[in-house]
Amino acid sequence: THSRFDAFRALADRRGRPGVRLLDALTEEAAAGHAPVETWAPETASRFGLPAASALGPATFYADLAAPHGRRHVRVCTAAACFAARAGGHVSEVEQALDVATDHVTTDGEVSLQGVRCLGYCYAGPACLDGDTPCTGPTLADQLTGQALPCD
Ligand code: FES
Repeated sequence: THSRFDAFRALADRRGRPGVRLLDALTEEAAAGHAPVETWAPETASRFGLPAASALGPATFYADLAAPHGRRHVRVCTAAACFAARAGGHVSEVEQALDVATDHVTTDGEVSLQGVRCLGYCYAGPACLDGDTPCTGPTLADQLTGQALPCD
């Protein structure tokens, strides 16, 4: 039987889902490579039959997509609570530990570091996300180099 929502679902299939799939694809592509987003986002859009602008819009709007990604992607919090915990010194410690500047990727594409505004670990800052693994506290840089256990 048909419900009155069938037409809406059909419309959502035609108009909504390619956009959702596109965002998923952009997220995967961003995590997989370190080339500037402008070089790969239009190609991703064309796989869905969408114009380049439909990919470049979200890819440049969402900082996580636009940030250069190495094979190991680390996010360091630069927001107020983490900044206050170490007077911002944790950012330079992390840069030294990973040998890469914030918002850059190493030339071999191995490591990238992204400055972000709050990771939700304000209570334990300063904080980083090493891929999906949170690292927090005064031993942050040592955690990233394996000289301390994450979140110890
Ligand atoms: Fe750094 Fe929230 S301020 S995790």
